[in-house]
Amino acid sequence: MHQQPIICPYCQNPLLATTTKNYACELNHSFDVSKEGYINLLPVNQKKSKSPGDNEMMISARRAFLELGFYDPLIERLKTIIQEDFTFNDNHFVALDAGCGEGYYSEKVMNNIPGLSSEVLGTDISKYAVKNAAKKYKDNFYFVSSIINLPVATESTDLILSIFSPIHPEEFRRILSKDGYVIVVSPGENHLKELAQLIYDTFKPHENNVPEKMAPSFEHQATKKATFSIHITEVETLLILLKMTPYYWSTSKENLAKIERCKDITITCDFNISIFKHQP
Ligand SMILES: C[S@@+](CC[C@H](N)C(=O)[O-])C[C@H]1O[C@@H](n2cnc3c(N)ncnc32)[C@H](O)[C@@H]1O
Ligand SMILES: [Zn+2]
Repeated sequence: MHQQPIICPYCQNPLLATTTKNYACELNHSFDVSKEGYINLLPVNQKKSKSPGDNEMMISARRAFLELGFYDPLIERLKTIIQEDFTFNDNHFVALDAGCGEGYYSEKVMNNIPGLSSEVLGTDISKYAVKNAAKKYKDNFYFVSSIINLPVATESTDLILSIFSPIHPEEFRRILSKDGYVIVVSPGENHLKELAQLIYDTFKPHENNVPEKMAPSFEHQATKKATFSIHITEVETLLILLKMTPYYWSTSKENLAKIERCKDITITCDFNISIFKHQP
């Protein structure tokens, strides 16, 4: 039997819809639903800056790039893992996309899996991210919060998905149901190698430290791979890809000019898909 997953960030009592436009807890802490359909559950004292998380430019770059479908092989791989390797009571799962960005993955990975039904929640510390996710993906429930202090009930979530976002193993452990799963997607060794080589003299392969970080709180089940190449023939697309990576901030004017002259490039996409369960 599942609890109501969303809780009040101030008193941890369940948060329930009072009207279509408002949520409140029994102590009357009250949260209005924005016109896009999300709620902001990040207490002001947990904000480290005025606009924490990814900014508008990064969010729109992610949306533009992901909607071109370049990373869809990753989505197919994740869906297959959930469908074939995971089991859920009554073939139903409550999922949280933790650090959901503009929502593409929460929508595409965790809905419409043959044989399974789902209730999909997504959260991000960036208001721009959550606003864009809620506006577009109406069947999922989005809220602003930090993974450090999730307004999500203890043991209420059957699947936590974290893609290229910060992780907080203790908080993930608290909200995960007894038989639940955590999937953390992180950059594989050669992820975007050819793009990095346009910017840096030497390419430093990515290290996977996710299992180590998760180790005190979880049992590591497996790390699977999704590796494929994408062929980019438009400079605009390459620039969008650059803008959604941290490389953008260290690209010199000269290297940007080099990228702008790049008419045709094949880029390696290399993802680690690490899977965790509670320790026995
Ligand atoms: C690289 S983006 C990935 C977004 C999305 N998962 C995707 O792959 O498109 C990292 C995301 O983590 C969010 N983020 C950073 N710190 C966070 C925190 N403490 N709590 C929740 N989200 C956070 C950022 O705002 C950003 O949207
Ligand atoms: Zn409350």
